[in-house]
Amino acid sequence: MIPDKAPKEDVFHAGGALKKNAHVPNFENYKELYLKSIENPDEFWGDIAKDFYWKSKHTGQFLDYNFDVTKGEIYIKCMEGATTNICYNVLDRNVHERKLGDKVAFYWEGNEPGDMMKVTYGELLQQVCQFANVLKSQGVKKGDRVSIYMPMVVELVVAMLACVRIGAVHSIVFAGFSAESLCDRILNSQCSLLITADGFYRGDKLINLKVIADDALQKCRDQSFPVQRCIMLKHLAVNIQLSVSPSQIFCVWFRQVPWNPEVDQCWHSLLSGVSDECEPEWCDSEDPLFILYTSGSTGKPKGVLHTVSGYMLYVATTFKLVFDYQPDDVYWCTADIGWITGHSYITYGPLANGATSVLFEGLPTYPDVSRMWEIVDKYQVTKFYTAPTAIRLLMKYGSEPVQKYNRESLKVLGTVGEPINPEAWQWYYSVVGEKRCPVVDTFWQTETGGHVLTPLPAATPMKPGSATFPFFGVVPAILNESGEELEGPCEGYLVFKQAWPGVMRTVYGNHQRFETTYFKKFPGYYVSGDGCRRDTDGYYWITGRMDDMLNVSGHLLSTAEVESALGEHAAVAEAAVVSRLHPVKGESLYCFVTLTDGVGFNRTLEAELKKQVREKIGAIATPDFIQNAPSLPKTRSGKIMRRVLRKIARNERDLGDLSTLADSSVIEQLFLNHCCGAV
Ligand code: WT7
Repeated sequence: MIPDKAPKEDVFHAGGALKKNAHVPNFENYKELYLKSIENPDEFWGDIAKDFYWKSKHTGQFLDYNFDVTKGEIYIKCMEGATTNICYNVLDRNVHERKLGDKVAFYWEGNEPGDMMKVTYGELLQQVCQFANVLKSQGVKKGDRVSIYMPMVVELVVAMLACVRIGAVHSIVFAGFSAESLCDRILNSQCSLLITADGFYRGDKLINLKVIADDALQKCRDQSFPVQRCIMLKHLAVNIQLSVSPSQIFCVWFRQVPWNPEVDQCWHSLLSGVSDECEPEWCDSEDPLFILYTSGSTGKPKGVLHTVSGYMLYVATTFKLVFDYQPDDVYWCTADIGWITGHSYITYGPLANGATSVLFEGLPTYPDVSRMWEIVDKYQVTKFYTAPTAIRLLMKYGSEPVQKYNRESLKVLGTVGEPINPEAWQWYYSVVGEKRCPVVDTFWQTETGGHVLTPLPAATPMKPGSATFPFFGVVPAILNESGEELEGPCEGYLVFKQAWPGVMRTVYGNHQRFETTYFKKFPGYYVSGDGCRRDTDGYYWITGRMDDMLNVSGHLLSTAEVESALGEHAAVAEAAVVSRLHPVKGESLYCFVTLTDGVGFNRTLEAELKKQVREKIGAIATPDFIQNAPSLPKTRSGKIMRRVLRKIARNERDLGDLSTLADSSVIEQLFLNHCCGAV
């Protein structure tokens, strides 16, 4: 499956300078370790597990699973019976055993240039223990779910680690989500407590997070689920003191934050007098670690559940090898902790390795489009991880804003979230990395926990746009529509044949949905939902989703979710949403709406519908186009022909086979109403 020798033609060879000290220095080495990892996973992961702290050893098989629905329930278990604590492993172990107490864990860089602070491993441990004690005093116990809705601040990491220290399960909701989305997630996970902040700035825009959080809590109350406690971090006040003029301090300090004394408590007041020592709760390997919601094709988000030991081993190992982590690195992942990339590659992976990271609150374009490179220069960042959408956005401004700053410190560049187009790859490689740094195009999902297809920077020759080969322990295959495994160069469904430690364990509260979504279509395989091509050199190329999911700026959205948000508007009788290519966001939302009788389509309604989706889901789901569709193309059985709508959205006339279309006259009407606006 993997070529014996790395191909030499049409490829970019991995960075020579890295090879000297790299963990996996060449392709032969990768191949050898890969074979071991899939032939003898227990030994491979068992060796890795020796570096971690276990309160008690595992009893059963190291990695035990069933991926075949025809043979019974789907399960994955890693190191069952062992007890540990991930917070202990990422903090106490670094401070006490590895003597890294004085090493910087995070350089926090605020939204405003100049707002900065650092926190060492020793300080982080103290803060986490203290906050863990606060959670305990609030009645949070092992197994309880805690929702976290916070901006990119160190306290977000403190909150998540404090949860896992006491065995509570965090459910982080990205701070860009709406009150309704937050409410849905609180209800689904039945959280007993919400941790939030007063607000934050995104560029020059103030987000009053507490107002949105209150709205969400009210919605929960309306649905008979009163969340008893809410802890609010005062971030704006503290932050502003550092950065702006006295008059602004005045106005911020006196900002009215809505306050419900029966529920709300202030983060800092709760800390006073609380001990900074807290014995970790020793958890079983398969105890739940966290829930993170991701879009599902039915429209209702799925609570992806990860458990303790397998996730820990997997993110620690992928971080170490994919970024070729070295002790003097300064690593920066620009994602938000509210997404899986932030969970795995800002918090758990880097901390498990004792790494120093940058934690950035702001935007790549604020105050100007040089911000990222200024930060790289300021902290002498060595490993940098971002999304294709950010690269495409910055690429539009040319190389000058990049070249204003020194990037000699950079050694490895990474991307994640969606396929990277070769043009953006080349710009990243040549302009940002000065043709010196390998680009690791990491393919993975919320569900996979960590990277599953990825180059290793010193070992894998790169091809722009390809996520190259599987990571250790991962066995990909490509299937055709009938579920047959294809050999050699081919294209089809990307699936995985064996479990790896980091794969999700269930959909929270709905194991059946887990089985149906990922294992039913092709029994015996985990079905990723992505299409994939394998070339003559054995390289894997992700071709995009094969289901009703859209990928907007590296984030998955389901068409059903957006359709139902539109459908809730009184003027909408029916809605169909498809993707249209977008030069920066990758894909954008193109919505067809059939209006209720007597309602006319106009700009006001269009704006209202966009607002409706933004309020129901969040700003990332804001439609780019809304088209009036007096009727939709349907089959005789009434199924909307999305394939046809996708073509219309792209203004392509070649619609393919229309024999199943019930009424062909709708097509001309749709082309007439097309939103031809420049993208
Ligand atoms: C979907 C997962 C993994 C963290 C961020 C997104 C797409 C992700 C790549 C890549 C091509 C990619 C896939 C996948 N995707 N990385 N390197 N090349 N496509 O997490 O929201 O769970 O989305 O993102 O379509 O299924 P997510």
